[in-house]
Amino acid sequence: MDKLVIEGGQRLKGGVSVSGSKNSTLPILAATLLTDDSCLIKGVPSLRDINTMLKILRSLGKGVEYDKGRVIVGASGNKNYVADYRLVSTMRASFCVLGPLLARFKKAKVSLPGGCVIGIRPVDLHIKGIKALGADVNIESGYVVAKARKLKGNHMYLGGVYGSSVLATDNVMMAATLAHGKTVIESAACEPEVADLAEFLIKMGAKIKGHGTPIIEIEGVKHLHGAEYTVIPDRIEAGTFMIASLITGGDIVIKNILPQHLGAVIDKLDEAGVSLIGNNGSMRVRPKRRLKPVNVNTLPYPGFPTDMQAQIMSLMCLVPGISVITEKIYPDRFMHVAELNRMGARIQREGPHAIIEGVKGLSGAPVMASDLRASASLVLAGLAARGKTSISRIYHLERGYENLDKKLEALGARIWREKE
Ligand code: UD1
Repeated sequence: MDKLVIEGGQRLKGGVSVSGSKNSTLPILAATLLTDDSCLIKGVPSLRDINTMLKILRSLGKGVEYDKGRVIVGASGNKNYVADYRLVSTMRASFCVLGPLLARFKKAKVSLPGGCVIGIRPVDLHIKGIKALGADVNIESGYVVAKARKLKGNHMYLGGVYGSSVLATDNVMMAATLAHGKTVIESAACEPEVADLAEFLIKMGAKIKGHGTPIIEIEGVKHLHGAEYTVIPDRIEAGTFMIASLITGGDIVIKNILPQHLGAVIDKLDEAGVSLIGNNGSMRVRPKRRLKPVNVNTLPYPGFPTDMQAQIMSLMCLVPGISVITEKIYPDRFMHVAELNRMGARIQREGPHAIIEGVKGLSGAPVMASDLRASASLVLAGLAARGKTSISRIYHLERGYENLDKKLEALGARIWREKE
């Protein structure tokens, strides 16, 4: 297994291009189960999570070819409606094959994904939505088993204790495309990745309105056909490069960025004193003056994304004054705090709040990645720290960032891989 080593202290400069969105691509690949026709998906990042989804599609009988960011998902051979524990347990997003399998085969058996280090992560909203469409749902030996003679459109409220759910909205929206009649999802997730999935489904022949808003309306159709689609750029990768520029006092031009998907992040950085100049799908990011501390609450879109919480925390570790970060989506998503403190940060956790007292500098240390975005925050801290930081368990990083080390190296970072 590799570890990532960073010799900190280099100001990052130059241009970097953002890859296609992981969180768009995963449900879009799952949606190809809704048809036997072949689909071409473009802009697909080369990531561990994408490979997992391709394995799942193969296990469900799809023919899959992946080359240079293009995936062709072909007609099914042996059709299978069982998504196996070994695959689903490695990636929660694989649970979004439930909706398409049920819509296509009127039955689906998908392993429960289980918890993960960022929290319990239940699937009650997925099940509530699927049941509202008329499916019988049971939990048997760790699997969700759903059956329906016919799926029927319905009006449902899909909000939970922590607000809307991205993958539950995806699952129900996909199932509803082939249901009889009209479905209305209230308190639907508004994330750009949900809207991107809806656009792909529309290209397949689905009738969907209101995606990108909290009320989505789906008029069921008899069948969906193949389609060609390019996924949106990854807003979390773009946000991570913004922080990489700021934490190193750098000057980076981020290409293939959609600033309209990053409103809350841009607003916070603006408040902190960052110069952000957007132009034709690119954005130049550098500090305008000495940065000020900011308070951040993570919220469902269009609020500040939980997937950027760890990264902005790394930045605030080096901004003089006190910042408070409140995690409102996953109250336990703070695995990075102890590791950042190992590097000299002063962060105190109080329930869902992290209180950060900015320090003058961080010092490199051996640290351990615990989940995808926590790993990114450690890389960012390592870029700014004095001396050497080595980050083990970087497979977490490989789940969600395409060639992160190579992209950072091209911007002037001293970063390399070593065998653990
Ligand atoms: C997606 C993203 C993930 C991001 C998260 C929140 C993908 C592949 N992953 O995950 O990167 O961090 O959105 O923006 O798109 N919840 C329930 N019941 C459910 C489902 C969720 O209570 O049935 C809760 C969760 O525990 C959490 C909140 O709702 O507190 C939001 O979770 P959700 O939007 O479902 O996250 P994912 O879709 O799994």
